Parts: sequence; C-alpha cells; structure tokens
Amino acid sequence: MSQRIIDPNTRAGEAQVEPSLRPETFEAYIGQAQVKTHLQIFVEAAKRRGEALDHVLLSGPPGLGKTTLAYIIARHLGVQLHVTSGPALEKKGDLAGLLMQLDEGDVLFIDEIHRLGMVVEENLYPAMEDGRFDVVIGEGVNARTFPLALPSFTLIGATTRAGVLSAPMRDRFGIIEQLDFYAPEELALIVRQSALSLGITLAEGAEALLAARSRGTPRIANRLLKRVRDIAEVRAEGVITRAVAEEALRLLDVDEAGFDRMDRAMLLAIIERFDGGPVGLDTLSASIGESKQTVEDVYEPYMLKQGFIQRTPRGRIATPLAYQHFKAMKAPKQGLLF
Ligand SMILES: Nc1ncnc2c1ncn2[C@@H]1O[C@H](COP(=O)(O)OP(=O)(O)O)[C@@H](O)[C@H]1O
Ligand SMILES: [Mg+2]
Repeated sequence: MSQRIIDPNTRAGEAQVEPSLRPETFEAYIGQAQVKTHLQIFVEAAKRRGEALDHVLLSGPPGLGKTTLAYIIARHLGVQLHVTSGPALEKKGDLAGLLMQLDEGDVLFIDEIHRLGMVVEENLYPAMEDGRFDVVIGEGVNARTFPLALPSFTLIGATTRAGVLSAPMRDRFGIIEQLDFYAPEELALIVRQSALSLGITLAEGAEALLAARSRGTPRIANRLLKRVRDIAEVRAEGVITRAVAEEALRLLDVDEAGFDRMDRAMLLAIIERFDGGPVGLDTLSASIGESKQTVEDVYEPYMLKQGFIQRTPRGRIATPLAYQHFKAMKAPKQGLLF
C-alpha cells in the first residue's frame, strides 16, 4: 500500500537520507491508546459507509505524534494526503489552490491550524461545513459570489493549543482528540523500535534510561537516540550500554528529569530571579530570552504535568519538587542557588 503525499515542503529524495522513524499504521503507532481506538473506529466506519471521514482536530504539545497520526489516517483511508500549515496559507487564493486539488475523500492536513489568518479561516468554514468555496468576483456593490462545489474531504487540523482556536473553528470538527505525554514504558518501546530501524544495538538498561529522559515525547526520544548513537560510535565502538547512554546524556546536558539547559534556565529563573514566583509569562519569557509561545508550547507543558511548576492567576510558581531537583543535582553554582 503506497501512499501519495502532496507536500510542497518536502524536497524530492529528502526522506531517503535516513529511514523514517514515523510509524505508518495504527498497529505500529505506540501509546495514545484511547485516541488510537477512537480514530481506528471512526476511520473504519467512514470506509464502510464509503464516506469521507469527519473533520479531525488533534491537539497536544510538539513531538507527540500529531503529524504522524494524520499520515496514518490518510493511509488507512486509502486516500491522498495534502499537507500545509496555518502560516503557509496567507491568502484566500492559497486556500482555493489547495481545495481545488482535492479528490473525493482526500485528507487535507493543516498543521498549526491555530495560526490561520482570519480571512482564510472564514473561507474554510463553508468548505468544511457544506463542501462549498465562495468565489467572489468584483468589489463593493458590484461584488458577486459564485459558490463552487468541492468534493467531500476530511480536514485534519493539528495544534499545540486547542484553547486558542476560535470557537467557530473548533465547532466544525466532528472528532476532537487530545494527545498526552507518553509513559516511560511506551517511550522505551518507541526507542527499541527506532533502534531497530536505525540498526542500532542497545544493551539492557539503555533504552529505559533514554525513555526516562525524553520528557514524555517520542520526538525527543528519537533525537536522544540518534545523538547517543553518534557518541557511542566515536567513543565506545558502537555499543550502547547503559553507562555509554549515561555518558552521552551528560555530554548532551540532559539531566535526570530529562531537562536540558533551557528547561533548567527557565526553572532557575523562577527560583532565583523571581524568588520562586509567581511570575507572569511575559516577564518570565523575556528574562530567559524566549518567546512566550515557546515557553507555553515547548517548555511549560511537561513541567506542569510533572509538577515542577504550577500556574496560578498571578503567574508561574516553582514547586518544592523544582527546588528539590536542583538540590539533588548538586548544581555546580550551588552558592548562587540557595
Ligand atoms: N506513537 C508513536 N509511536 C512511535 N513513534 C512516534 C509516535 N508518535 C511520534 N513518534 C515519533 O516522533 C516523531 C514526532 O512526531 P510528530 O508526528 O512529528 O509530532 P507532532 O506532529 O505532534 O509534533 C515522529 O517522527 C516519530 O518518529
Ligand atoms: Mg507536526
């Protein structure tokens, strides 16, 4: 079963450089059991009825497998997947161009759908709801609207934050699924699977260690695995034992909680500069030189989930767990800390 993917961002041949670590079927997709079960049922039902699948919204922090799921859904439906993103659809014409390419039942994947502009978003509503795209010719009082019938299609939207999506947009999705961080056992399976695809030999214990340090995120698990492989090849003749993995993680500056330098900078800023908080998002992100979006989408969700920080109406606060983390780490600049 080969899949046709129409993605203007992928250069020809690019995918061949390294085997893709993306699972291609629901069966190979690890974790997110409930989301997977729902989607499998809805896809199967749509197929049996010979109808397009209802529109799907996938939300969750980066690297948890939203794009992967969109590919899998299209594959199981046996239709073409058309890939774009919110920021790439600047004008109404960009959207029109994409919609005109759709065949009956196709999937249109819009990544970062919360970043669609107003005009494009409003033109997407009738397309989603009534399979109609309104072409307007002329301006002002002379403007005339010609409704264009579209083939039935499935829109899959992915977003890191379902909360910032406009209500009318959200309401037009029949299927809304939220992805959550992965359990260490699931990440260990993913690491094992990826090691197999990359032809890497992991000794006992190494995969559990990588899984524990991956911030609940498959993309990070795969990234760590690849870097650990590099380091093992240069320093340890290719064999990844637990000790080699530990050494590699130290070199990469990933600590026991899976936090890297930037994560720690953020936690330390709350603890040291703002006396544990509460500190507002604006102040916090400015103080570590990151955008608010990055703090909210990338750094914060896992820390919140693991209880290192809390969100209060007056801002973020560091929990006792965060203080403990730095104490336990025997931070090099201890005097500075406490
Ligand atoms: N459930 C999963 N099982 C195995 N690997 C996964 C899974 N989810 C994600 N991955 C891996 O993590 C990478 C990032 O996933 P992706 O779908 O791009 O995340 P998102 O779109 O949510 O940012 C993928 O390339 C894939 O290698
Ligand atoms: Mg993605």
